[in-house]
Amino acid sequence: MVADVAGSADKSRALSLGAFHLGAFARRTRSQHQHRTRLIGLADAGNDLRTRTLEIDVAHVHRMTQFGMVVKQAVDLGTFRAIKGGPRAIDKPVLQKEERITFHELQRPRRATPGKDSVGWGLDSHPVPSVFLCVWKDCDRISRHTMNDRVILPTPPPILKNQQQEIRELFQRFVVPSYGRFNLALSHGAGSHVWDVSGKRYLDLGGGIAVCSLGHAHPEITEALVEQSRRLVHVSNLYYQEPQGRLAQRLVGHLAPGKVFFCNSGAEANEGLFKTARKFGHDEGRFEILTAVNSFHGRTLGGISATGQEKVKKGFEPMVEGFRHIPFNDLEAARAAISPATAAILIEGIQGEGGITPASAEYLLGLRKLCDEKRLLLLLDAVQCGHFRSGRFQSYQRVLEGVAGAEGFSVDGISMAKSLGGGFPIGAFWLRDQAHGVELGQILGPGTHGTTFGGTPLGCAVALRILDVIEREKLADNVRTTGDFLHAEISRLAEQYPGVVRGARGLGFMLGIELQPFDQIPGFKREETVSSLQMVNRLHEAGVLTIPSGTQIVRLLPALNLSRALAEEGIQIIEKVVRSVA
Ligand SMILES: Cc1ncc(COP(=O)(O)O)c(C=O)c1O
Repeated sequence: MVADVAGSADKSRALSLGAFHLGAFARRTRSQHQHRTRLIGLADAGNDLRTRTLEIDVAHVHRMTQFGMVVKQAVDLGTFRAIKGGPRAIDKPVLQKEERITFHELQRPRRATPGKDSVGWGLDSHPVPSVFLCVWKDCDRISRHTMNDRVILPTPPPILKNQQQEIRELFQRFVVPSYGRFNLALSHGAGSHVWDVSGKRYLDLGGGIAVCSLGHAHPEITEALVEQSRRLVHVSNLYYQEPQGRLAQRLVGHLAPGKVFFCNSGAEANEGLFKTARKFGHDEGRFEILTAVNSFHGRTLGGISATGQEKVKKGFEPMVEGFRHIPFNDLEAARAAISPATAAILIEGIQGEGGITPASAEYLLGLRKLCDEKRLLLLLDAVQCGHFRSGRFQSYQRVLEGVAGAEGFSVDGISMAKSLGGGFPIGAFWLRDQAHGVELGQILGPGTHGTTFGGTPLGCAVALRILDVIEREKLADNVRTTGDFLHAEISRLAEQYPGVVRGARGLGFMLGIELQPFDQIPGFKREETVSSLQMVNRLHEAGVLTIPSGTQIVRLLPALNLSRALAEEGIQIIEKVVRSVA
């Protein structure tokens, strides 16, 4: 039994068989342990592959609705045993009380029934002991139940080989060095966790820069990909296909009557808005688009021309004609900048790369009025701040909640990408049906715009499923409450450690930790780089992924389903790091 795996000559195979293997093992042992559920854990400390058997009193398994608590209790009560090398060492606890045991976040938590259910474990002990766990409701029909319930279990940690150096060398030799990369090579993920190739686990609060809306390896994304790829991956936009039509309908349903064009990225979505603005103003000789200082709109030539940051333009001049930058959240500056050639104003609802700055309600309402008065399009880049990241589908919907005069507010066009596909590349832009008496939704007629891969059945099926999950699991509410919690905690850190943290920025799951300049933070190295990068690097060491923004902001852009428990854990780690440099 235990020896089947623990004593197996082929331990690596046992590891790779993963959760189903564990389930099968649990099934075999259950009948002999009516009062105890025998659990098998697979531990992997770097390249030192070992197996461990864990045993937990089934009474504790029963309290599995609070996953973190179960093991904690079990450890405290001393009923949690880890056995090295099989059953002979059963009384020798390997895991000490002091060791931190965290459950892998389950995609579909289940309640286990004592004496009935089986529980499979994977133990990832390097460098922080952590446990991931799967529960099967009926251990005699593991696979059937699993399939019926559409649970595709997270991939267990593969046999780890630390190939960090090798991977880095591949990049150095073969990949265009346009990114300053962190010294991390990531291998796999599940929920809000990712592992690097050495087996170290990270809490991912960066979400792939606001992309992984459902975290990593979400079973429903996998399922949508598998189902749709069996049916139809691509047909070209010369034909109709259902997923694209349905996704357009769903996106419009969250906005105002309008039309959607699908593309592949945020920059491409913005290009669509630029072309729309040009077409809109064309017959009157208007072509200019005003964008904000510190904005970011992508890395195409149009994107860097639109972006209000000099650093992205440097070396690529001349820029595309027709973009001018105005100070963000400054209505009078916008009014003063309008010229006879101006056709549109484009802003981010919450500036992301520029340091997590939401547009104020007054600014949004004022811009709408200004655009109506001057017959300009009001366009929104929601690539980063959209798709429920603010707690509403679009950030302006959140910012304008309960604001007098905001009833019926709408922008004229919105670009989207990132969270829309949860990691599958898909972008889109929405155009309002009518703007200033023009049929804006019809302005890009046949032959005016296109892209080969935009809105494939595969991409749209994934985006549709993500919307299903967001709506079914009320993730917008989670973003609001957990986002409020995180914001309050960052503000607390600012009060407690004013020499390190200046304050909290943003809303929902688009948050910024504003830091002091690096030369004012006692624990930061003087000779090193800006405080955002120093902090992000230290957080990596502590096991948390975050994203720098500018010189002093560390961004949190987690998965929309980040649990409160993981948010708390993240804050604890952040606080520890902040304290260490205070
Ligand atoms: C606000 C905003 N717009 C546009 C883009 C460009 O999107 P992509 O990288 O998908 O082209 C980004 C990317 O970070 C963004 O944050």
